[in-house]
Amino acid sequence: MIVLGIETSCDETAAAVVRRHADCADDPKAGQGEILSNVVLSQIEDHAAYGGVVPEIAARAHVEALDGIIKAAMDEAGVGFSDLDGIAATSGPGLIGGVLVGLMSAKAIAAAHDLPLIAVNHLEGHALTARLSNNAPFPHLLLLVSGGHSQILLVRGVGNYERWGTTIDDALGEAFDKTAKLLGLPYPGGPKVEDAALRGDPKRFALPRSMKGREGFDFSFSGLKSAVRREAEKIAPLSDQDVADLCASFQAAICDILSDRIGKALAEFKVRFPEIETPQLIVAGGVAANKAIRSTLETILTDAGAEMIAPPIRLCTDNGAMIAWAGAERLALGLTDPLNAPARPRWPLDKNAEAKIGKGRKGAKA
Ligand code: KG4
Ligand code: ZN
Repeated sequence: MIVLGIETSCDETAAAVVRRHADCADDPKAGQGEILSNVVLSQIEDHAAYGGVVPEIAARAHVEALDGIIKAAMDEAGVGFSDLDGIAATSGPGLIGGVLVGLMSAKAIAAAHDLPLIAVNHLEGHALTARLSNNAPFPHLLLLVSGGHSQILLVRGVGNYERWGTTIDDALGEAFDKTAKLLGLPYPGGPKVEDAALRGDPKRFALPRSMKGREGFDFSFSGLKSAVRREAEKIAPLSDQDVADLCASFQAAICDILSDRIGKALAEFKVRFPEIETPQLIVAGGVAANKAIRSTLETILTDAGAEMIAPPIRLCTDNGAMIAWAGAERLALGLTDPLNAPARPRWPLDKNAEAKIGKGRKGAKA
């Protein structure tokens, strides 16, 4: 099964072609995938001057680039439209202008070549990537940490998610980006904070570990970002070493918070699934590219008899292969979408989970 995937929900214009082996018992590669091409055009330079993604600039850049990116992905894979079994496109959540560009292109190709359309949830793209890069049977735990989301989920199967924890304020990627900005590091901040942290002292600043030790699996990151701001103001003007020490202390606090929350989720998973010998935690989303976070989680999970799975770094940040793969997984189950499938700016993986953003504010109902 060969699927073209299109991703345009944020600031990457991306297309990829992925193959998935059918689920037949006599194929040793049954259910496995391979990437035939994965073309990503970053718009970072278009947005850099504004310190963040500007939705209208993003949408226009997708319009200009997408046709060429799709052609490049098809050429590199050495396939024509008649070789495809389906067209997958991100149809949410994300910036609506960009999502519409990718989804409408996918619909046009599907209509012209009489191919099934798969409207992919961007978050499911991140979630299922580990099944493309590694062996990750269901059920497993998922830590999804990106620019817009920070969630711990139980993944029972394709399209079957139970959210256990989420952030009550900033997403983790957002906390990285805001911290970078207040320290004068360029956008996008996550990788810059990680780089600076390598040269810094993680113990110099005592930063808060919000929610650590608390009941449940939720996160809160805005207090940590504000604490970095207060420490930075106290010692301004900042030297390069001060910035590095603040980044290292910030990242150490993040690693501590994640260890606490994931440790609890793993304990719960073991109670729920005692028959699973080696539980797996998948780390996905842009922040999963952070090596300090990966190695911290790997250590606590290995020590607890579990396994951490993180896709290769280039598959953690937004790309077309993750969308093509999620499309292929859905197509294999017969889950296709009509040509009037809507773009969905908001689209939670677990539709039963309550919204929690803002729950941390003073006066908010618990
Ligand atoms: O998944 P993604 O590419 O886009 C969204 O769907 O949001 O995630 C982007 C987020 C940004 O906030 C970016 O700063 C963060 O992932 N990020 C990182 C790293 N690489 C990307 N955060 C920390 N360390 C990194 N190495
Ligand atoms: Zn993403």
